[in-house]
Amino acid sequence: MIADVVVDLQYGDCGKGKIAHALCRERKYTHVIRYNGGCNAGHTIYHNGQKFVTHHIPCGVFFGIKSIIGPGCVVHTDTFLKELEELEAAGIPAKKLVHVANNAHIITDFHRAEDGKDEAIGTTRRGNGPAYRDKYGRKGVRALDDPKLYPYLIDMYRELYENEAYNEIEILFEGAQGFGLDVDWGDYPYVTSSHCTVGSALLNGVPPRAIRDVWGVAKIYETYVGAKDFEGPDEIFETIRERGQEYGATTGRPRQINWLDFDMLKMATRINGCTKVVFNKMDVLEGLDAWCLYDGPNLYQFKKRDDIELWLSGKLELEVDDNIEVMFSGDKEFI
Ligand code: IMO
Ligand code: MG
Repeated sequence: MIADVVVDLQYGDCGKGKIAHALCRERKYTHVIRYNGGCNAGHTIYHNGQKFVTHHIPCGVFFGIKSIIGPGCVVHTDTFLKELEELEAAGIPAKKLVHVANNAHIITDFHRAEDGKDEAIGTTRRGNGPAYRDKYGRKGVRALDDPKLYPYLIDMYRELYENEAYNEIEILFEGAQGFGLDVDWGDYPYVTSSHCTVGSALLNGVPPRAIRDVWGVAKIYETYVGAKDFEGPDEIFETIRERGQEYGATTGRPRQINWLDFDMLKMATRINGCTKVVFNKMDVLEGLDAWCLYDGPNLYQFKKRDDIELWLSGKLELEVDDNIEVMFSGDKEFI
């Protein structure tokens, strides 16, 4: 069994959907598995020129690959079924490809109503936090208890291990949210309620030795949606928000913007054991001549794109691992 993992190194919305979609085209996966979170996620995917925003459903469906919502996830059944119908209507044969792990947990309408009153954290109000609270409080409802999900249920152990094709299984794990929102490593309490690191993928039932590549996805600037103050004082962030279309894919809220924080990026790269790091949205800063980042408390401004690329690649190779392959969007055909 072989597995690649896509993790977000910042606050979500770094382009996991884009990278997962590109990887499905490049590599021959037998399974794509969403490993954490629920419909709080919003993954923007361009497939054959058409724009899709997925919340629950992994991007394997665009390529005819078996796609599983794993046991680490929480599912709002009606949202899931609606998303399935929308994909089908757009010509993506999702129904025959999508499965829900029978031990995934359900986001009930009560969870949603409770989360709908949140002001303190600035959640997506999709019921994510209350669903995980009830899961860990051992009061949750699992997918196998929801008749509407019966046609889609899958037993992860049987699927992955009691399978004659065990040696041919090649999984892409598609993460949701990001390191800065991780319940343990993020800026608690301004976090989501699940784990957003590579460890979270393993919790879905694969052994650590199965992991081949960990794709860390970042943006060349940072964005965050939620209740804490995040945006820097620079006026240019307004322009970046417009150019980068930095509005929540799930809630439409404007994302707060700041420069990349190298210390956090380094921490996320180390903890996730990334073998690849991709910086997205390079095109947004192109033309603005604003190649800036924070290294500790110091704000650096670089003269041109090449300079920030060299600095980032060099620092990650020197301070984390000299085998990391660092990529910038636009560099390679597939990113
Ligand atoms: P993707 O997968 C960005 C944020 C919310 C809030 C905090 C807690 O598209 O990267 P929650 O609803 O999870 O209880 O909210 O986490 N958040 C996200 N921010 N991208 C996401 O998903 C997010 N999912 C949750 O805005 O600050
Ligand atoms: Mg998103």
